[in-house]
Amino acid sequence: MSSRATASARANIALVKYWGKRDRRLNLPAVGSLSMTLSALTTTTSVSFEEGLPDDEFTLNDTPVVIDNGCRMRRVLDEVRSQAGFSKRARVLSRNDFATAAGLASSASGFAALALAAARAAGLDTKLTTLAHLARLGSGSAPRSLLGGIVALEAGESADGSDCLPVQLTPEGSWEIELLVVITGSGSKEVGSAEGMELSRTTSPYYSAWLREAARDLARGRRAVAARDFGALGRVTEASCFRMHAVALAATPALLYWNGVTVEVIRKVQALRRLGLEAYSTVDAGPHVKVLVCSRDSARLAQELGAVDGVLEVLTARPGPGAWEESE
Ligand code: ADP
Ligand code: DP6
Repeated sequence: MSSRATASARANIALVKYWGKRDRRLNLPAVGSLSMTLSALTTTTSVSFEEGLPDDEFTLNDTPVVIDNGCRMRRVLDEVRSQAGFSKRARVLSRNDFATAAGLASSASGFAALALAAARAAGLDTKLTTLAHLARLGSGSAPRSLLGGIVALEAGESADGSDCLPVQLTPEGSWEIELLVVITGSGSKEVGSAEGMELSRTTSPYYSAWLREAARDLARGRRAVAARDFGALGRVTEASCFRMHAVALAATPALLYWNGVTVEVIRKVQALRRLGLEAYSTVDAGPHVKVLVCSRDSARLAQELGAVDGVLEVLTARPGPGAWEESE
């Protein structure tokens, strides 16, 4: 007997960054964050729990991936089995329509889609608390991809993470803003986010200042969204990004996620701003630059940024939907 479900989710990009964990086992963030779920960059995942399957099987983009004990995927599936009260192993087929592990948040869309598909296939409830807990066991930023539009995720204080739930601040379609995803290189990142943030927590002298300022940045970000103040949201977006990278750069060994083109794109955004075009950069644990723009300026800015030497591609995303179940 098998039970099967399919779900999709979109990547999200943090405007106010999460960097550092307060509990590594449950993957609870040390700071809150604020993100935009995108209208592009999609993961679609099918899960079937099957009687007689000797072990979990995971195929990502047509390639089998080894599921070790303790790996993120196993943690999510084990939690689903424990809540469902069965031991059936899972066959998981997943596809990202964009580069995996390259700083484009495949872990966020990947684990949001997995949480929803696995919960459905196992017959669990699909309340936000259940799905956020499951998605977070995979990745700290994944609960944000459960919801659409602009989303806040508070750090919370409870030991079990029950007060660390994503909240939608504005639904998709309610604000004419976009994110240009400027691709500045190819290949996977050298140091994953989990490793990089743990190195920052344990070795960066700026980590405590980061925690203090991140809480203020989240409050600033929330106020900017409530007031639909694009400039204020853009300023806190850039500030949060630079603070995060300052903490990472000060770690031992130093974490430098940028390449030369990353810097050129950031400089171009600053130059365009001086010409009166409002745009703000953010960079995650990889070399690509995501640029927050008003929809009315998006086409012109995409063209300007696409012309920067070394830029490979510019993708345009609006605020997009939260995770959804596909019909079988
Ligand atoms: P990214 O910037 O793409 O999020 P990370 O290194 O943080 O890069 O995360 C990549 C990891 O996320 C992969 O190695 C894999 O473990 C997981 N991942 C990516 N895509 C999926 C998916 N579709 N389903 C489940 N896990 C995924
Ligand atoms: C820089 O969510 O990928 O993108 O919880 O270890 O999976 P894990 O880390 P992850 O880290 C995201 C870091 C970031 C900022 C952000 O998305 O908030």
